[in-house]
Amino acid sequence: MELKNDRFLRALARQPVDRTPVWMMRQAGRYLPEYREVRGQAGDFMSLCRDTDRACEVTLQPLERYALDAAILFSDILTIPDAMGLGLYFETGEGPKFRKTVRTEADVVALKEPEAERDLDYVMRAVSTIRRELNGRVPLIGFSGSPWTLATYMVEGGSSKDFRHVKSMLYGAPDTMHQLLDKLAHSVTDYLNAQIRAGAQAVQIFDTWGGTLSTPAYREFSLSYMEQIVAGLIREHDGRRVPVILFTKNGGQWLEDIAETGADAVGLDWTTEMSNARARVGHKVALQGNLDPNVLFASPAAIRAEVGRILDSYGEGPGHIFNLGHGISQFTDPRSVDAFVDALHELSPAYHSQ
Ligand code: CP3
Repeated sequence: MELKNDRFLRALARQPVDRTPVWMMRQAGRYLPEYREVRGQAGDFMSLCRDTDRACEVTLQPLERYALDAAILFSDILTIPDAMGLGLYFETGEGPKFRKTVRTEADVVALKEPEAERDLDYVMRAVSTIRRELNGRVPLIGFSGSPWTLATYMVEGGSSKDFRHVKSMLYGAPDTMHQLLDKLAHSVTDYLNAQIRAGAQAVQIFDTWGGTLSTPAYREFSLSYMEQIVAGLIREHDGRRVPVILFTKNGGQWLEDIAETGADAVGLDWTTEMSNARARVGHKVALQGNLDPNVLFASPAAIRAEVGRILDSYGEGPGHIFNLGHGISQFTDPRSVDAFVDALHELSPAYHSQ
C-alpha cells in the first residue's frame, strides 16, 4: 500500500522533507477525553491493550485531532514480562505492579522466553488492524522497552525511585543480572520482529531508566543489549527500510556510543541541547525530540517560542523528528497540543527551504 505521508520515514533516513515531522511519546492517553471514555468502556488498561478494536481506536484518536506524522501502537512495554508469567496489573493512581518479582538466580532460570507470535498474539493483531485502518495515512511505529528498563520493573515489582533491588542484583550478582538481560534481549528481538512482520514500519526502544546507571554500567547492562537487539532486527520489510530509534532518557552524555549501535535515530530528552547532539552525532543518525512535556502547561506563545528555539537549535536541513523529550502528561490540556503542532507547522518549513 502507498504511504500518503512519508515525512517521518524520510527524516529518519535524513532525506529532505517539506517540514519537520512530529509525533508525541504517549500521544494516545489520558489527557484525551475520548481516550478516557474508551478506557472506561474497556475496564482496566490491560483489557484495553487486549481489545483489538478498541486498541486500534485509541491509537487513531490523536491523529483525528492533530496533524501528526506517525501513529504509535497502543500497548505497553510491560507486555513482555507479563507474557513471561509475572502477572502485570495496574492499581489506580499507583502505576504498574507485578504479582511475582524476579530476585534470585532461580527466579531468572524459571522465566520462560515468550514466543511473540503465540504469546503476544493480541499485540500482533492490534498492529495489523491499525495498519489496515490507517490505510497509508501515516507510518505505524512499533515499540518495546529496553532489557534494562524491563528488568527494573521485573526486579522491583513495579515502579521505583531508588532502584534498590535491581541495582543490588547488578552489583551483587552481575551474572544473574546478565542472565536476565540476555533472556530479555532475545524476547525483545523476537517481539519487535513479530511487530515488523505484522506491519510496524519503524520501531522504538524505550530505555527509560538507562540514565540511572554509571557510564560503565550503562555500557555493560543497557547499551550492549540494545546493540544486540538492533543487530537481530529485520531491517527491511515490504521493500522498505525499517528504521530503529533508541531513546535512553538522560542518556545525553553517551550519544556517541548510542549512535554506534547501528540505530537509525537517537531520541533525546530536553536536558541535551539539539545543536550539541547534532554536532556530535548528526552525521551518523537522525535526532528525535526534545520539548520538555511541561512546556505544554505554559501559554500558546511560550509553547511557540520553545518550539522555535528547538528548531533553531537543530538548524537547517533534514534529520530532525520533532517530539517531546518524554511522554505527554495526563494533565495536559489538549488545546496546548494544538498550539504545539500549529507552531511546528508554521515555523518548521523555513528550515527545509533547500
Ligand atoms: O506512546 C503511546 O501513545 C503508545 C502507548 C504507550 C503506553 N506506554 C501506554 C500507556 C507506550 C509507548 C508506553 C511505554 C511505556 N510504558 C514506558 C516507556 C516510556 C516512558 O514513559 O518512559 C514505560 C516506562 C511504561 C510503563 C508504564 N505503563 C507506566 C510507568 C505506566 C503508568 C504511568 C502512568 O502514566 O500512569 C503505564 C500505564 C500506561 N501505559 C498508560 C498508557 C496510556 C496509562 C494507563 C491508563 O490508561 O490508566
